[in-house]
Amino acid sequence: MSTAPSSTDVLIIGCGAAGLSLALRLADTARIVALAKGPLHEGSTYYAQGGVSAVLDAGDSIDAHLQDTLVAGAGLCHTDAVRFTVENGPAIIDWLSSQGVPFTREAGSDGSSDYHLHREGGHSHRRIVHAADATGRAIQDTLQAQALRHPNITLHDQYSAIDLITTRKLGLPGNRCLGAYVLNRHTGRVEVFAARFVILATGGASRVYLYSSNPDGSTGDGIAMAWRAGCRVTNMEFMQFHPTCLYHPQAKSFLISEAVRGEGGVLLLPDGTRFMQNFDPRLELAPRDIVARAIDHEMKRLGAECVYLDISHKPAEFIRAHFPNIYAKCLEYGFDMTRQPLPVVPAAHYTCGGVLTDLDGHTDLDGLYAIGETAFTGLHGANRMASNSLLECLVFAAAAADDIRARLPRVSAPLALPEWDESRVTDSDEEVVVTHNWQELRRFMWDYVGIVRTDKRLQRAKNRVELLLREIAEYYGNFRISSDLIELRNLAVVADLIIRSAMERKESRGLHYTLDYPATQENLPPRDTILVPENFAGKDYPPRRPAADA
Ligand code: FAD
Ligand code: SIN
Repeated sequence: MSTAPSSTDVLIIGCGAAGLSLALRLADTARIVALAKGPLHEGSTYYAQGGVSAVLDAGDSIDAHLQDTLVAGAGLCHTDAVRFTVENGPAIIDWLSSQGVPFTREAGSDGSSDYHLHREGGHSHRRIVHAADATGRAIQDTLQAQALRHPNITLHDQYSAIDLITTRKLGLPGNRCLGAYVLNRHTGRVEVFAARFVILATGGASRVYLYSSNPDGSTGDGIAMAWRAGCRVTNMEFMQFHPTCLYHPQAKSFLISEAVRGEGGVLLLPDGTRFMQNFDPRLELAPRDIVARAIDHEMKRLGAECVYLDISHKPAEFIRAHFPNIYAKCLEYGFDMTRQPLPVVPAAHYTCGGVLTDLDGHTDLDGLYAIGETAFTGLHGANRMASNSLLECLVFAAAAADDIRARLPRVSAPLALPEWDESRVTDSDEEVVVTHNWQELRRFMWDYVGIVRTDKRLQRAKNRVELLLREIAEYYGNFRISSDLIELRNLAVVADLIIRSAMERKESRGLHYTLDYPATQENLPPRDTILVPENFAGKDYPPRRPAADA
């Protein structure tokens, strides 16, 4: 069943930091519809802890932030994207404050009040602006409340985008994005949304792994939709594993913020000895790829189920004041971090690759933008530095908003689009196929495409994902759509993109570590892994992106 089409100026798929900030920046000049596939607040943004990086301290500099990002990115960052992002940092913090985000402040000696700044791995200075240890919740709640109040913004929860509609798919001339088919989960019907511009702000894909710090919806929907619509996807081998998630059967990989290490937390083996000195002179504040690999190495070497993160040497009052939410959550699971070390393990956390975009968020398809974690802007290179992600969401949302505002007068009204065709499908009598494939996919991605890879493991994963892709395509063609099926179909596409990218990179660099090529290819210029779909939508191949800078 489908319902009459809705039409708007701008359709934003995703209501996290990226989607909501774009909506708010454009709402005075355009009508906006923004969709969330679950509850409005549910995305990685809500769960972000550490904060947003920006140069605000007198002793810090844009160049230092730029250099730290380049070092963490292991030679693959695009310097133009890094400079653009870090230069915009202070203005982004001002904008968030003007929207009402309650950042933690500290009183200056002259009675003034400045942002309190945390430090995190890879950062040479204190530059993480935060709202205690629940920064994402403060940002999400504030932007969502503003968006709900704005007369030009309509927010829909429980609306799950299935696929993009393009002129090419409809057999019309040119290739432009015209809208999307969307499952209204309240009614079970597929609706058609037509728009002059469509923005993918759907977050990352870390749920492709069995253990992840992300909410369930991080299934790479935007990346898969863009790929199917003919857009290039870049650097998917660089999936980031956060070193410290709470190890507890009920904790669902609850994150223990890097800021805990920034404030003096140390990593310990089960026998209580420190070990990061054996891996990196920056110890616990080395970039994430190094810390996660060190933990993985020690756990495998000792056959240990976890390592420990200890900040109990700090005053209890300090810990409770800086990390009230982490403290309370750990206490729920029986761990008092003011008195004992916390058991921790790495878990999949962040998708550094994504839909290839330029600095305004354009994808290869006219009328389609990608922003936030779903996009590849060139900022993160082979490894994202802590707290650079929320900044990227906000900076590129602002850039895309400016670009769309300038183009709106030249783009005609949305076309009338055909309804979703369900004439050939029936209700599924074997839902178990979806749950089984979902579990199998996440398990083999964890076992074969995780922190440490080999050619053999990647080939095993490739064989399995090809089988799953065929099985899911058949199921999708025969049975009525559901939100679980939408996610599974997208996860399989994303898994395939990760595996193919990992197989193409014959070296170890940043987050991609393989026992078959343990060294970085220093003798060759660094290169991105750019996958081009068979139905490539762009007009300007080879890539218009600047080459990755060393
Ligand atoms: P999200 O916030 O994930 O939002 C995605 C949106 O897309 C949601 O509204 C979802 O419903 C919607 N969506 C997805 N698919 C569909 C679909 N098919 N149809 C309709 N809607 C869809 N980064 C930092 O910089 N600092 C931090 O301190 C930090 N801490 C983190 C802690 C945790 C536990 C996690 C998981 C991440 C953290 N990150 C942090 C990373 C950062 O939070 C994310 O990269 C960022 O919030 C992504 O924002 P986004 O707007 O791109 O996507
Ligand atoms: C954290 O608080 O450790 C997460 C920060 C990030 O992912 O940027």
